Amino acid sequence: MKKVKQNNSGIKKSGIIQKDSQKTLTRKKSMNQKISHKQSLVSKPFKRVIVTSALPYVNNIVHLGNLVCIISADVYTRYLRLRDIPVISILGTDEHGTTSEVKAYEEGLTPAKLCDKYYAIQKDIYDWFECAFDCFGRTSSLANKEITLHIFNELLKHEYIKPQELEQFYCNTCKRFLADRFIGGHCPHCNYTEAKGDQCECCGKLLEATELLHPQCKVCSATPVLKKSTHLFIDLPRLEKPLWQWINSVKNKWSTNARTMTDAWLKDGLRPRCITRDLLWGIPVPGYEGKVFYSWFDAPIGYIGITKASRGDWKLWWQSSDTRLVQFMGKDNIPFHTILFPSFLLGTKEPWTLVNDLSVNEFLNYQGGQFSKSRHIGVFGDNAKETGISADVWRYYLMINRPQQTDSDFSWDDLQSKINSELVGNFGNLVNRTLTFVNRYFNGIIDKIKLEPQDQAFIAKVCAREHIVGDLLEQIDLKEALKEIMGISRLANQYFQEQEPWKLMNTHPVRASSVLGVLVNIIKDLSIMIEPYMPSAADKIRHQLGMGHLELSWNHLGLKDLPQGYHIGTPQILFAKLEDAYVKDLKVTYGGEREFGLNLAVAKITKILDHPNADKLYVLEIELGAKGNRQLVAGLKKHYSKKDLLGKHIIIVANLAHTTIRGIESQGMLLAAEKDGDVKVLEAPNSDPGDEVRVSNWKNNTKQITYEEFVSIMLTTKGNKVVHQDHVLHTHKEEIHIDIPDAAKIK
Ligand code: 2FM
Ligand code: ZN
Repeated sequence: MKKVKQNNSGIKKSGIIQKDSQKTLTRKKSMNQKISHKQSLVSKPFKRVIVTSALPYVNNIVHLGNLVCIISADVYTRYLRLRDIPVISILGTDEHGTTSEVKAYEEGLTPAKLCDKYYAIQKDIYDWFECAFDCFGRTSSLANKEITLHIFNELLKHEYIKPQELEQFYCNTCKRFLADRFIGGHCPHCNYTEAKGDQCECCGKLLEATELLHPQCKVCSATPVLKKSTHLFIDLPRLEKPLWQWINSVKNKWSTNARTMTDAWLKDGLRPRCITRDLLWGIPVPGYEGKVFYSWFDAPIGYIGITKASRGDWKLWWQSSDTRLVQFMGKDNIPFHTILFPSFLLGTKEPWTLVNDLSVNEFLNYQGGQFSKSRHIGVFGDNAKETGISADVWRYYLMINRPQQTDSDFSWDDLQSKINSELVGNFGNLVNRTLTFVNRYFNGIIDKIKLEPQDQAFIAKVCAREHIVGDLLEQIDLKEALKEIMGISRLANQYFQEQEPWKLMNTHPVRASSVLGVLVNIIKDLSIMIEPYMPSAADKIRHQLGMGHLELSWNHLGLKDLPQGYHIGTPQILFAKLEDAYVKDLKVTYGGEREFGLNLAVAKITKILDHPNADKLYVLEIELGAKGNRQLVAGLKKHYSKKDLLGKHIIIVANLAHTTIRGIESQGMLLAAEKDGDVKVLEAPNSDPGDEVRVSNWKNNTKQITYEEFVSIMLTTKGNKVVHQDHVLHTHKEEIHIDIPDAAKIK
C-alpha cells in the first residue's frame, strides 16, 4: 500500500466522502476559549448550565454507591462540554453539623482539622476518578458563610423567619445543649443500652432524644436535663404558594421519584422548619449565641458559596433566568432540593436560579447487602485504585449499572462479566482488531473508501443510533445512552464479521480498505460518545487513531469525517480481562467472601460449679440455643463470683478441639480480655444464645482448630471494642463492647 501524503493535521486535503474534514476537525483548544466562543445550546432558551452533585458529608469516605451520583454529574457535564454548551460543574464537601462534630470528637481532632483532613482525602478520590469539576470547594468557606448570612438576612427582612421555643437536653457539666448524636441511652422499644438520640441501631427505630431511658451525655456521661431553648424556624406555610407555582412549572423535567416524593410532602402540608442547632461547629446565627445554622440550611446554599469561592462571575450563573440548573442526588436528598433549598431562595425575593432538571438515583448495594466502612465491606473511594481496576472501568460499570428506577446491586461476578464481555470482548476488541488490521495490512493508512449500498445502509443505521444516544443523553438517561453506545459497537463488530476484510484483502483490497475505513470512522465516533463516560479510554483511542491532537466534539458524529488517508497510531490493548483468580482475591479483600479462623458464638451461662480438682477453675454449663448445651472449664474464680457470672451472655470459641482440664472435659473456650491483671469476659447482652459473632461480614470457620491455631489469631481491644485487624467483633444485634483499656489480650 502506498503512503498518502499528509498535511500537518494528519488529514488528507480531499477525501471521497468528506471533503471539508479540515474545517470540521479542529486542533485542541483550552476549555475557556471554547466556552467563550461557542454559544450553541441544545436546550434553548438557556444560555448556560450549572450541574451540581449532592455535596458528600466531609467525614464519610464515599463508596461506589455514593460515586454513582458524582460520576453521573461528571458524565453529564462532559457531554454538555462536547456539545459546546457553557457549563460549570460544582462539587465540594458538606462540612458542618453533628456528623463532623461527633467524628472530630472520636478522632481527637478539632472539627476544623477533621474537615481539612477529609476534604483532602475526598479531593484525591474525585481526582482519581477523573471527575473534572469546575468548582470544588467546601461549605465551611468564607464565601459560603457570606452567602448563607445574606440569604438568612433577606428571609428575616421578608419575615419568613420566626423564633420558637423548644425543650432540649442540656448537659450541666459540659454547659451546652446536646445534639441528638451526643446523647445516648436505653432504647424505649428494645431496651438496647447504646441507643443514640436519633435512632436505635439495634431495633432500627427512629427516636426523639427525649424518649430515651437513662439519657447520658456522650461526652462526659452526666445525666442531661431538659431545658428550654429558642430556635429559628423558616415559615414554610407562608412560602407554600410561590413554591407550588414554581414546582408546577418545572417538575415535568424531574425524575419520577423526585416528583412523587415532592408531591407527597406538599400533600401532607408544609410545616415551619427549624433551621438552627445548638452546636459549636457551623455558621453562627447572628444574635443567637451558641447557635449555628442547621447544616441542611448552609449545605445547599453551599452550591452557590462554592461557585462564589472560585469564580468572580458567580452571579451571572446563579442569578439569571437563562441559567439551567441540573442537580444530581441520591433519593434520600430529594425534599431538601425540591422544597427546602428552593424555599430559602424564593423567600429572599431575589432572582436566584432554581433547579430545572433533577436526576435522582436510587441506591447501589454491595453483593446484596449494604456498604459498611466500619466493617470493611465493599469498595470505597480510597481503595478503588488499589483494586488495579482503572477509573475508566469503574466509571463504565457504575454508569451501565446506574440505579435509575430501582436499587441495583454491585457484585464482583457481574463486574467481571461486564468487563470481559462488554469492554474487552465487544468494545476493546472492535478497536483493537480494526486498528491492528489497518496497521498490519495497510501500513496503518486508511486509503481509498468506496462505499457500496450495504455500507450506506449500515452507516445510516449507525447514524440513527447515534441520534438515539444524543436523545437519551438530553433526557439524562445516562445508563440507556451507554447501552446504546455499546450496541453500536456490537453492530460494528457484526459488520466486521460479515464483511470479512481478512478475505477481501487478498481478492478485493480496495473493498477491504473501504470496510476498514468505515470501521475506523465508527471507532472515531465511539471515542466521542464514550468520552463522557471513559475519558482516558477515549483519549487512548484518539491517539491510536492518530487524532490525539484534534478536538472532537459532538458535531463530528454521523461518520462525517472519515479519516481518509489518515495514518493511524499504534494499536494497543484498551482493557485487560479480569481473571477468575484475581476476582477471587478481590472478593476476599473487599468482604463478602472472607473467612475468619474462629467460630465464635454467644452462649448463656446456665449453671456454675467449682472444679473438683482445681482451686482457680469453674465448670460452666452453657446454652447455645439451637446448637444445644455444652460444658466449659474456665479460670475465672479469682475475677468473678458465681452470682456475677450466672446468666451472662458470653462469647465462646465453638470450633476449638475439646480438651480435658484436670480430669474434666472442656468443650470449647470462653473469651475474656486481660489488661494489667484486670480480667473481663466478653459479653453480648443483647444477643441470643447461639447467635454468631463475626468479624466484619466474614464467614466463620466451621472446621475444628487446635489451641495453637487459636492463639495465632490476633484479637485485642480498641476504643472499648474487641477487634481483629481493626474489624470490630459483632453479632447481628450489637458490636461487642468491653470496659477495659486498649490493647488488652484476649484469651
Ligand atoms: O446526604 C448527604 O450526603 C448530604 N451531605 C448532601 C448535601 S447536598 C447539598 F445540599 F449540599
Ligand atoms: Zn456532658
